Amino acid sequence: MATELSVTSTRIRFDNPFLLGSGPPGTNARVIAKSYDLGWGGVVCKTISLDASKVVNTAPRYGKLEARETGEVVGFENIELISDRDFDSWRRELRELKRDYPHKVLIASIMEEYRKEAWQEIVRAIQETGVDGLELNLSCPHGLPERRMGMAMGEDPALVREVVAWVHEVATIPVWAKLTPNVGNVVDPATAALEGGADGLSLINTILSIVGVNLATLRPMPTVEGYTVPGGYSGQAVRPIALRHVMEVARAHPGVALSGMGGIETGGHAVQFMLLGASTVQVCTGAMLRGYEIIAELKDELSRFMTDHGFGRVADFVGKSLPYFTTHADLVGRQAAAKEARAGKRHRDDEWQGAIAKETDALTAK
Ligand SMILES: Cc1cc2nc3c(=O)[nH]c(=O)nc-3n(C[C@H](O)[C@H](O)[C@H](O)COP(=O)(O)O)c2cc1C
Repeated sequence: MATELSVTSTRIRFDNPFLLGSGPPGTNARVIAKSYDLGWGGVVCKTISLDASKVVNTAPRYGKLEARETGEVVGFENIELISDRDFDSWRRELRELKRDYPHKVLIASIMEEYRKEAWQEIVRAIQETGVDGLELNLSCPHGLPERRMGMAMGEDPALVREVVAWVHEVATIPVWAKLTPNVGNVVDPATAALEGGADGLSLINTILSIVGVNLATLRPMPTVEGYTVPGGYSGQAVRPIALRHVMEVARAHPGVALSGMGGIETGGHAVQFMLLGASTVQVCTGAMLRGYEIIAELKDELSRFMTDHGFGRVADFVGKSLPYFTTHADLVGRQAAAKEARAGKRHRDDEWQGAIAKETDALTAK
């Protein structure tokens, strides 16, 4: 059976469901163009704000958690802020990208301070460039919350509803709200975003973390002039948490367009997000660690999975594993019922064996 990798989500058609997630992989037009040439279905650019002069990064700003024996990077912490590139350069580059790659999907990630005028100004100015959609970064966990941005909004459902509604008032293109995992119940901000008018939801952003403490200097890492702040954790280690968050939102809001991410490095990882309700997936740390070229592998692995299971389209299996979540009490009940059924079968098998033995005895006695 031929497999069709193209998907349509929130009225946007993607050649394939693999997007580069907002971060270093989509930091300017040159690398975004490169990713289109390599076959990514779309890109969410690094988060843009109106006044980049307020964005000052530190060095170092990354920390890695490596497997003890192999050195493989299993977790990644960053204290990187949103884009420090100026707004006009971004607008020019977004326009050029849409001119040169009209059929490739470009989603602009945007973030502003808690002011209606600022949000509506950035939405109007960015959608003029011709981008296909907007992703509202309501979820960066470090640095920006000090300015009441990012996660400071995303962790408060009332603010999420309000900000998304401001955007919804002026947006003419689909709007995705990017949620933070640093909350007790991710369904609350997800519901608020949908109530505010979001067309889709992206999750997860990074998880607040401390990647480690240097045993020689006793300083927590990544260490900037002897100090640090908790940063955002991503990469393979966060995948189980991301899958759980996607599942919770998909079960609470069946059929809502979800863009899932967190630790995707293979096609198999991506498929797991789809089985739990994501119709597109995003890759950030995986592309940083393994290179943009992994897209070929991701697409091949997705096609192989679909062929093996006889799925013609991605929509055929989005959410397919969701019905298999239940309560713990139900698991216990199912286990007891299965045990009973097995014991009953054993009993019936014993009776059957007994009957056969009796027949055989009777025959041999004749
Ligand atoms: C170095 C780095 C910078 C990031 N910058 C942004 C950003 O500007 N905006 C945003 O919405 N998410 C940002 N993210 C979060 C990612 O888009 C993604 O939500 C998260 O890392 C989980 O996916 P991953 O494990 O594939 O990286 C960044 C992540 C990393 C590692």
